[in-house]
Amino acid sequence: MTSYLVTGASRGIGLEFIRQLSQDPNNTVIALVRNAAKSVYLQEISDLPNVHVVEGDVTSVEKMQKAAESVATITGGSLDYVIQNAGGIYGSDTSLADPSNDLSNLVDDLKGDFEVNAVSGVITTNAFLPLLRKGKAKKIILISSAIGDIQFTRTTGFAGIASYGAGKAALNFIAQKYAVELASEGFVVLPLSPGFVDTSSTKEGGQTQPSEEDIKKMQAVFDQWVKSQPDWDRKPLTVQDSVTKQLKVIAAVGPEDSGKLISQNGNTAWL
Ligand SMILES: NC(=O)c1ccc[n+]([C@@H]2O[C@H](COP(=O)([O-])OP(=O)(O)OC[C@H]3O[C@@H](n4cnc5c(N)ncnc54)[C@H](OP(=O)(O)O)[C@@H]3O)[C@@H](O)[C@H]2O)c1
Repeated sequence: MTSYLVTGASRGIGLEFIRQLSQDPNNTVIALVRNAAKSVYLQEISDLPNVHVVEGDVTSVEKMQKAAESVATITGGSLDYVIQNAGGIYGSDTSLADPSNDLSNLVDDLKGDFEVNAVSGVITTNAFLPLLRKGKAKKIILISSAIGDIQFTRTTGFAGIASYGAGKAALNFIAQKYAVELASEGFVVLPLSPGFVDTSSTKEGGQTQPSEEDIKKMQAVFDQWVKSQPDWDRKPLTVQDSVTKQLKVIAAVGPEDSGKLISQNGNTAWL
């Protein structure tokens, strides 16, 4: 059996990782969620024989160490893959120099985004490292974003979602640090961007129609993002498509890729 732990598995991309990985009966798939009782979408598949649900909060050392104990019981003390997907935009999605943004709010966003997107990577990795060291695959995947890539920012001129971008940029650096430190043990540590993904089908409150105003704002953002990939069709990926592509990349990467931020396409085509 090959064991996978996916964090942030209650909905969105994390849930789809559980769906696709659990289709192979040779996989033991562990879904880490903050609250199992409230993870309604996961409940649709959590009674599959190879799916296990463990609770944990990726910002809590104590809870993640407890989660690692539970995972060890399920797997017999090892773990092959960890896909650290929990995270996201913590606060508002402003730029840094927007005069309408209160500085205290901005600082709160920076701290929150850093905690949930970067510090979480160290908490999760270290909590599970003893199990991963006993695993066969030795792959640590950190779901990141092109928004945290300096070259993407320079090419597109995109100043928005700044504190989230800073958190993911820090995660990319943390991944590189782990990559060099764990290389001699045969680990591959990969910051992986999932693309721009529509996760609205598992959003709390269901799918909502964006307002005219929202559509206008998104079009302006797309006008910038397309500069990084002129042939982009300006459409988000489906969550199924993104995860299928990411799983191919996860299977294919080797030591030469360790520490390098790449996309669901296995390169720097981010969209
Ligand atoms: N969607 C995109 O276009 C896109 C693009 C680039 C990168 N990403 C990255 O991909 C990942 C997944 O994104 P998504 O769009 O699927 O997000 P999502 O639908 O908002 O789901 C986020 C998941 O993370 C969990 N989570 C958040 N904070 C947590 C914590 N402290 N401890 C444990 N779990 C926590 C949430 O759990 P609860 O249900 O308990 O809240 C939820 O399961 C994120 O890291 C995001 O930054 C997404």
